[in-house]
Amino acid sequence: MKRIVILISGRGSNMQAVVQRCAAEGWPAQIAAVIANRPDAGGLDFARGHGIATTVVDHRAHASREAFDGALADAIDRFAPGLVLLAGFMRILGPAFVQRFEGRLLNIHPSLLPAFTGLHTHRRALAAGCKASGATVHFVTSELDHGPIVMQSVVPVLPDDDEASLAARVLATEHVIYPLAVRWFVEGRLRAEDGLVRQTDGASQLLLG
Ligand code: GRF
Repeated sequence: MKRIVILISGRGSNMQAVVQRCAAEGWPAQIAAVIANRPDAGGLDFARGHGIATTVVDHRAHASREAFDGALADAIDRFAPGLVLLAGFMRILGPAFVQRFEGRLLNIHPSLLPAFTGLHTHRRALAAGCKASGATVHFVTSELDHGPIVMQSVVPVLPDDDEASLAARVLATEHVIYPLAVRWFVEGRLRAEDGLVRQTDGASQLLLG
């Protein structure tokens, strides 16, 4: 049984998708805790309602990024997880934190990495005239929104799209690819080699939405 800790900052819809798929598909995994950096993160209610332990490590209560990272890492380690998921977690984590969880730390980012790292991905994809966008599940390394890619989804950018409509189309695919990538991890069906991640059954690591 792999123990999973999920970090959120807001509504936590990706966290919910992982919790639901884990239960519905009987993964060899248990969601050990949901940890938020904000007490008002909407996803905390969902977690509590599902009997999942929750913790808040408020970044505003810490004097420095390093102090927050350290407190967060200690809170995570109390649940002894084999996998830590960033799911809409809106704080940049420093190199010491990333190193502590390296190889068992995944993130989902709402763009086709390596394009549009950072914030406002949909606005920037529209401004660039992109005809496709998508989402990426990747292992976290100390470079922001980089790291070995596990799975990507691709969706069209439609002529009438605005930020909200594109975000919604991408988010629907996030809810498919993040649980799938996590399932592969907990079932030991991912191999990393030379910075590239391979699905060992040969399943497609691309979802065309
Ligand atoms: C998602 O689009 C995720 O990719 C990004 O922030 C959003 C979080 O949504 N990092 P939610 O909290 O999972 O609903």
